[in-house]
Amino acid sequence: MAAYYVTTPIYYVNDAPHIGHAYTTTAGDVLTRWRRQRGDDVWYLTGVDEHGTKVERAAETGGVTPQEWVDRLVEQSWRPVLETIDAANDDFIRTTDPRHRERVQNFWRVVRDNGYVYEADYEGPYCVGCEEFKLPGDLVAGIDGGPADQCPVHQRPVEMLKESNWFFQLSAFADALIAHYEEHPEAIEPASAYNEVMSFLRQGLVDISMSRSSVAWGIGLPWDERQVIYVWFDALLNYITAVGYGAPEGSAEAELFVRAWPADVHLVGKDILRFHAVYWPAMLMAAGVALPRKVFAHGWLLVGGEKMSKTRLTGIAPEQIIVHFGSDAFRYYFMRAIQFGQDGSFSWEDMSARYTAELANGLGNLASRATAMVQRYRGGLLPASGPGTEAEEHLRSLLITVAAEADAAMCALDFSGGITAVRRFIDAVNLYVTEQEPWVLAKDDAQSQRLDTVLYTVCEALRAIATLYHPVMPKAMSSLWEQLGAEPSLGPLVDQRIVQVGDWGQLRAGASVTKGAILFPRLEEPAE
Ligand code: ME8
Ligand code: MG
Repeated sequence: MAAYYVTTPIYYVNDAPHIGHAYTTTAGDVLTRWRRQRGDDVWYLTGVDEHGTKVERAAETGGVTPQEWVDRLVEQSWRPVLETIDAANDDFIRTTDPRHRERVQNFWRVVRDNGYVYEADYEGPYCVGCEEFKLPGDLVAGIDGGPADQCPVHQRPVEMLKESNWFFQLSAFADALIAHYEEHPEAIEPASAYNEVMSFLRQGLVDISMSRSSVAWGIGLPWDERQVIYVWFDALLNYITAVGYGAPEGSAEAELFVRAWPADVHLVGKDILRFHAVYWPAMLMAAGVALPRKVFAHGWLLVGGEKMSKTRLTGIAPEQIIVHFGSDAFRYYFMRAIQFGQDGSFSWEDMSARYTAELANGLGNLASRATAMVQRYRGGLLPASGPGTEAEEHLRSLLITVAAEADAAMCALDFSGGITAVRRFIDAVNLYVTEQEPWVLAKDDAQSQRLDTVLYTVCEALRAIATLYHPVMPKAMSSLWEQLGAEPSLGPLVDQRIVQVGDWGQLRAGASVTKGAILFPRLEEPAE
């Protein structure tokens, strides 16, 4: 079966991760877990970009070799953050991995053999923050006026380079790229990103250096030992080297390549759209490798209206938020509060407000009320449902509707839309409890069967909510699954299929319902 292959950018290890990096990885993880629960075979890759000037200089400032620098940061910060945010990636690529180095060198040998590499001099601006050869039209003036010599992303003057390099003949691919994207408008999302790339392509492409002679920290150019491969033309290749491009025929890795490539979606921030939607497919065309199906450029997390950035030291570490709210709330908040594709900002106030309203009060209360009532009124054993009324019928049919809506939204990478659909169902279940007043039914023996129906309905609704929210909040929903006593009859939560979530009546009567830990505990005042 062909795998649904999802990637994140590989992040520069010039410094530790901030919530911008965790944001992309979280989105990829929610998508991965959702697709797995649809029954898809998914391969999820993330990793780190370790070469280039930016990392080289960070190591120098830190007084260690680049290798020591990256080893330390990867082990102490970049790998651990995956655990912090609860990511379920299948692999983690480092560009210093031998598998990567060899395959990158092979790739460029192929491109050179195909006639798309030549020797020439480069003279022009370079932004070390972006690790990018800038075009004159890319630059802007500083805030206090002055010459247009600054990178708009990092708001720092670019450096002027003059070096003898090897060039990649990017210009040869402009027409082919335009034709490709005209035929595949879904290959760049959202539409604003598509339009930006198309207008860039229509201005024509100039050739670009694929090697650097003034940088030492990188992958050696196989045919010119004085040079290393330009960091982007090393890094982009991670998407194929990690899944076995160029592995020996018949090997397990070669099989993975067939299974995974082409990627279904490269998730990237809009800062690196051009690399992914222009340079990367041109490289692949030059080597005769199939193109990825989609690049999705999401927006930026902003600080004071500007992109949160390692270079500008405006980052907030994911742990700072997670220690207070937990990983589930972190995942929920960023997927819920920011429309994927648009910019957004994080604020403690907004996150606390949503946590309290939507998680603690909306969902957490519902779960604790339901489990407490089964305990109190039925000794912790889930009763069988009596005959349903219109109220139950309404919830059943609403569930079918929201499950379909959530699936369509999640598959379209509209995470906020997917969550909103589930929230509609939660609100309806809360309203149902309020209207049915099970605490009143419990006082009247003649209403015993009606109470059974209400208790069963609420627990069965929670069974569906746990399934639909598991990709977003794996820990809390696993705990809910346990409280519902669902596993003995239905199996593990990860195996619950989205397509079947609307089949009513899955929880088995007699299941042992327990009031476990509070799913979303009340917040303490943040320590200043
Ligand atoms: O560009 N808001 O690495 P990088 C949202 N190594 N997302 C953000 C963000 C923010 N403020 N800041 C960072 C590189 N990101 C290259 C990539 S890929 C072959 C090589 C996320 O460390 C977002 O995904 O600068 C962005 O594109 C990426 O981190 C850039 O990370
Ligand atoms: Mg960056």
